[in-house]
Amino acid sequence: MYTALYRAYRPEVFGEILGQEHIVKILKNQINTDSTSHAYLFCGTRGTGKTTTARILAKGLNCVSEGNRPCGECKACRDIKEGTFLDVIEIDAASNNGVDNIRELRESVKYPPATGRKKVYIIDEVHMLSSGAFNALLKTLEEPPEYVAFILATTEPQKLPATILSRCMRLDFKRVPESVLIEGMQDICKKREISVSQDALRVIAANADGSVRDGLSILDQCISGGDREVDAKDVLEFLGASGEEIFTELTDFTRKGKTADAILLLAEALSDGKDVRQFIRDWLNHYRNLLMVKFVRNPQDVVNLSVENIERIRRQGEALDLGDINRGILELSETMTAAKWSTQPRILLELAIVKLSNATDSIGTAKASKQAPEPEEIRDLSEKKDEGRMAVGAGAGYDLDTLWRAVFEDGEAAKGSFYIIGSGARLTALEESTFTIEAGTEHVKQHAEKNRRLLEELMKKHTGMSRAMRILLNNGEKGNEKRDVKKTAAEAEKILGINIEIQE
Ligand SMILES: Nc1ncnc2c1ncn2[C@@H]1O[C@H](COP(=O)(O)OP(=O)(O)O)[C@@H](O)[C@H]1O
Ligand SMILES: [Mg+2]
Ligand SMILES: [Zn+2]
Repeated sequence: MYTALYRAYRPEVFGEILGQEHIVKILKNQINTDSTSHAYLFCGTRGTGKTTTARILAKGLNCVSEGNRPCGECKACRDIKEGTFLDVIEIDAASNNGVDNIRELRESVKYPPATGRKKVYIIDEVHMLSSGAFNALLKTLEEPPEYVAFILATTEPQKLPATILSRCMRLDFKRVPESVLIEGMQDICKKREISVSQDALRVIAANADGSVRDGLSILDQCISGGDREVDAKDVLEFLGASGEEIFTELTDFTRKGKTADAILLLAEALSDGKDVRQFIRDWLNHYRNLLMVKFVRNPQDVVNLSVENIERIRRQGEALDLGDINRGILELSETMTAAKWSTQPRILLELAIVKLSNATDSIGTAKASKQAPEPEEIRDLSEKKDEGRMAVGAGAGYDLDTLWRAVFEDGEAAKGSFYIIGSGARLTALEESTFTIEAGTEHVKQHAEKNRRLLEELMKKHTGMSRAMRILLNNGEKGNEKRDVKKTAAEAEKILGINIEIQE
């Protein structure tokens, strides 16, 4: 039976890990000096080595070699590799996320290791634990026996309670640089006696976007045809025109008003059966990347891309202004919402392309700022808004943005078109008997009005009090670029569910 490359080539000792030098150095040193921590948190994108490193660390804690630990060869190392070592316990929190699962774990923690020096618990996807399970885990993390070590791994550390974070030594796994990935793949090709051209490896590495696992999967599929010679053309053919490139081009065409070119390119991209809704999502994500790379201090922290891909996007970003990006994000997120319920998502996307290529003003909000002066009400609120986003008075203690997001996530589950309210409006005040939301467009305002009952119900559910909703329209822009950036960023934050820090 064929074993996938990424399974066949899992590093067994520290020296085989690609990249992650900062982490390897710390762990090796701790093992050598017997100063390992009792709880680690491994964070980072999928396929960057969290599970692999957790197992290597578990070996290091149990290896019986006199030399460098882990040796990869002693009985402990081999048993851990095979998954038969009794004292290394791997738990997938995605499928064992209940409080009972963690209680069981707590019971087993009481017993010292059967054969090894340390009992090691590796809890993968730990952000999936229920809140009850987190609490149960916390008790164990607080005072674990000397012979126990925990290694928690997650792709989404922001979902972990602070109490858990504060009890772990956190190590952040980075995307592996393209050059390192290329070298790693070269080694594998040599071992397998397959010839893959340098250009081909470069294309694979660019598409892997820092994930070794993804790189190996692409390589795997490129060589699965049985070809002993693989060049860049083969790789591109396999990948289809679905890389970041197509979005760069599409964005470029629409910005230059080349509607026909853009529509043709779309037709080409969709001709090999790509899902239209996914395509819209990916393009929206490209705009988000443009925004981040252009305006955020450390884009690599908020953009899920390798350094090299960030550089490519930066180059395109230079030609775009905020208006272009703003318009792209808003247009595509509306299209995405509409496409969810439409039987003709492609037509909606084509319409979006036409709209985007025919928008000529340079700042997306320019039209709005030409409108009549804002009503008194709105001006008040927007001033308040800049002071901070915590509610005062009756709603004290609530962070308005968090509350709003919670309501909108709940609402989205209840009713799909809710999305448009979550992303197009924000909660600006929580008072004794009312709460106020501010809609960015007339369309969103109407939509919120239509969903009044559900919104009021959800707010009650999340705050424990009945309140009536007030809806304001805020399409007046005072128009300086920085505020536009903040607003677009806030919109992107809501649409994409991430935190954005804007460079001052
Ligand atoms: N840093 C790395 N060095 C070498 N191979 C890696 C690395 N990260 C991932 N891999 C490859 O990808 C596979 C899956 O990696 P894994 O450690 O499970 O990733 P994660 O837990 O971060 O999602 C491994 O079997 C290995 O082939
Ligand atoms: Mg993993
Ligand atoms: Zn060993």
